[in-house]
Amino acid sequence: MQNLPGHIAVIMDGNGRWAEKRGLSRSQGHLAGMDAVSSLVGECRSLNIPYVTLYAFSKENWNRPQAEVSFLFDLFLRFVRQEMPLMMKRGIRLGFIGDKRDLPLSVRRALELAMAKTSVNADMMLTLAISYSGREDILQAARRALAAGLSPEELDEKRFRSLMYAPELPDPDLIIRTSGECRISNFLLFQGAYAELYFTPLLWPDFDAQALHDALDEYARRERRFGRTSACAGSVEA
Ligand code: FPP
Repeated sequence: MQNLPGHIAVIMDGNGRWAEKRGLSRSQGHLAGMDAVSSLVGECRSLNIPYVTLYAFSKENWNRPQAEVSFLFDLFLRFVRQEMPLMMKRGIRLGFIGDKRDLPLSVRRALELAMAKTSVNADMMLTLAISYSGREDILQAARRALAAGLSPEELDEKRFRSLMYAPELPDPDLIIRTSGECRISNFLLFQGAYAELYFTPLLWPDFDAQALHDALDEYARRERRFGRTSACAGSVEA
């Protein structure tokens, strides 16, 4: 496949509506959402896409009913445990962005363990955004810069990035959002400045391999200019 994105980030939306349409509980929608995550990860790995980042839980999601929040965190634990053998087999490294301090201890420990164990893997990086807020990522980097006593002259983009949640992650090339909502919802605000945005009406549990290929085909057709004229961009773009 030609002109694949190096980093795909996904806003997985629509688990609740998917369940409602079938007369199921929201939990069942999230469970189906987890299956869609597993297939997406497998498909991206098969395509040799080196970075995949998933918006699993936003800072704002803490306002959901306590039972749903607990269910989601149990699901994240289950996902990490269930996928570990496959991540080791397929060379997938697990990463995290978000506010670790908010996480239940069990989830934090499981994520840290999984990140340590998979740190030897180098074929793909799967990053989970949990208790994540793009504004908070920017703000906490600003706070760290102030705390380090950096002068305004010292604080260039490179330095600022080094203070953000995951400096080693390249910027996303493609941000996909499911469920027909056309918003970024506080996801990768700084890093997504030049990402191609792809919105699909499919609900997240229905986002299958074909849907991914449709998104990738659309991405391949886009001309990325990064603010340059098309003549200049053509000389550097793949
Ligand atoms: C948004 O859909 C989805 C979430 C807040 C949770 C995302 C979680 C998953 C996809 C489950 C598994 C994830 C991992 C990483 C194992 P929504 O529930 O707001 O749907 P709605 O807008 O239709 O109500």
